[in-house]
Amino acid sequence: MPPRVLTLAALMPLLLFAQSPTMKQLMLDLIHPASNDILLTTSRGGPATDKDWSALRHSALTLQESAQTLLQSGPKAAAWSAAANQLSAAAADVYRAAQLRDTKSLSVLTGRIDAACTNCHRQYRPNVFPPPQGRVE
Ligand code: HEC
Repeated sequence: MPPRVLTLAALMPLLLFAQSPTMKQLMLDLIHPASNDILLTTSRGGPATDKDWSALRHSALTLQESAQTLLQSGPKAAAWSAAANQLSAAAADVYRAAQLRDTKSLSVLTGRIDAACTNCHRQYRPNVFPPPQGRVE
């Protein structure tokens, strides 16, 4: 039987893997790249090949699932849930549009994605969106 210390060392990668990503990691490594891919392909006139459509479905589903993670791991506040749901619904509609190869809907849908990001950031990233000066509460 191996010494106990070795057993623990062998478990460390598993323990690290089990940690949930931080909000910042979610934004930088999942949400921003996925939404960026959707915006880029749309601004270039929409997907052209089967591979492009498959990439669009992948990005849309990544964004939708990430929005679900935001819902579950964020603050239990109505404004937060509303913004996360807004993102999830917009991403779900992009996925549907990608299944139907509906290029025409994409520019409206990317507008909705953008609005969801801004809606949440306005309320939850005060370093980027400072509250208006001199506002009377
Ligand atoms: C429900 C809320 C919510 C939604 C929706 C949301 N974000 Fe964020 N985002 C945050 C919060 C909170 C932070 C600050 C995280 C921190 O600094 O810990 C953040 C930070 C970021 C950052 C900066 C990360 C850094 O610190 O460098 C980027 C980039 C970002 N979001 C992109 C997006 C994009 C793109 C979307 C839409 C597709 C989006 N976010 C939607 C809440 C949200």
